[in-house]
Amino acid sequence: MASLQGNNKSSEDFVQEFRGQVLNWYDRHARILPWRAVKGQKAQAYHVWLSEIMLQQTTVGAVIPYFTKFIETWPDVQSLADAGREDVMSAWAGLGYYARARNLHECAGIVANDLSGVFPQDQAELKKLPGIGDYTSAAIASIAFDKPAVVVDGNIERVMARFFALRAPLPAAKKQLKELAGALSEDQTSRPGDYAQGLMDLGAGICTVQSPKCGLCPLSGNCQGRAQGIAQELPVRAFKKDKPQKIGFVYWIEDKSGRVLLHRRPSKGMLGGMVGLPTSDWIEGRRKPEHLDVVRNLKLKTMKQNIHHSFTHFDLKLSIQTSIYEGKDVSNDAYFWCHRDKLEDTGFPTLFGKAVKLMA
Ligand code: ADE
Repeated sequence: MASLQGNNKSSEDFVQEFRGQVLNWYDRHARILPWRAVKGQKAQAYHVWLSEIMLQQTTVGAVIPYFTKFIETWPDVQSLADAGREDVMSAWAGLGYYARARNLHECAGIVANDLSGVFPQDQAELKKLPGIGDYTSAAIASIAFDKPAVVVDGNIERVMARFFALRAPLPAAKKQLKELAGALSEDQTSRPGDYAQGLMDLGAGICTVQSPKCGLCPLSGNCQGRAQGIAQELPVRAFKKDKPQKIGFVYWIEDKSGRVLLHRRPSKGMLGGMVGLPTSDWIEGRRKPEHLDVVRNLKLKTMKQNIHHSFTHFDLKLSIQTSIYEGKDVSNDAYFWCHRDKLEDTGFPTLFGKAVKLMA
């Protein structure tokens, strides 16, 4: 049974003890990350916002080089707002979940131009901005502005599930885990941002998915998951159905001068707004996909290798079709040529990066 008090202490003392343990540990073991302020200083709201958008569904290790490149290229929210949408999309290429990049750019425009370059501090105001939901508004309010907020990401969920030995399976248990995290956040008189980041770092380095290092954990004395010997099994996840399998064609169309046909995808839909190789529709089932109109009159050769890529909601297998192009120019706004020597400068989503690596 999950409860706030694992012993006879008053709930206020219990909360203070828990928060003190997290903060003391954070003071000694905080990760050095490029968006974090050095101790005693405030992090820049622009850095916190940018990092939190990038960290949605993405690991710290994957985000660091992108974050560094973005702040070198666009050192403040005004410069990001002034950047071309296509440059932002191409700098984001490879990080995935491309709607985030479109929202990021739109949000930068609103903050820079309508809010005089100042991010709101209030969670409700932050949530009005594109790309900022419950989690991200809580993270920004606490980390950038030291406002009390209940911050619950995947790492913190795991710490909560173990500390309270909550056996209810995710994702249904999310609400309960947030309530438990909220109960520990009721009296946030000091350092809400450090507390949230302390819990994140504990989850990432100590209370890890595999082999939690309970001997090093500042919370182990009151951890019910550890006491019951079930910490490593938590949180329980509901059985996941197999992902749908989709197939399609990806086209490597090259002309005699070594130019390759590329496609800027429509802004809505999978990989929206990103540049890639042309593809057919991606379909599920046994039927063969229809070829793309643009390539219909070409003599296509099927390569032996296929491209495999796993998206969150389906797996995709693309059969590579090649052709030398000789006819009337097919380029237009959406389809355009790029010399194969210049492909490296084009930011491709990982799916197309795999195909280009194989072919170029
Ligand atoms: N994951 C999401 N936000 C984070 C942060 N500020 N620090 C470390 N990991 C995070």
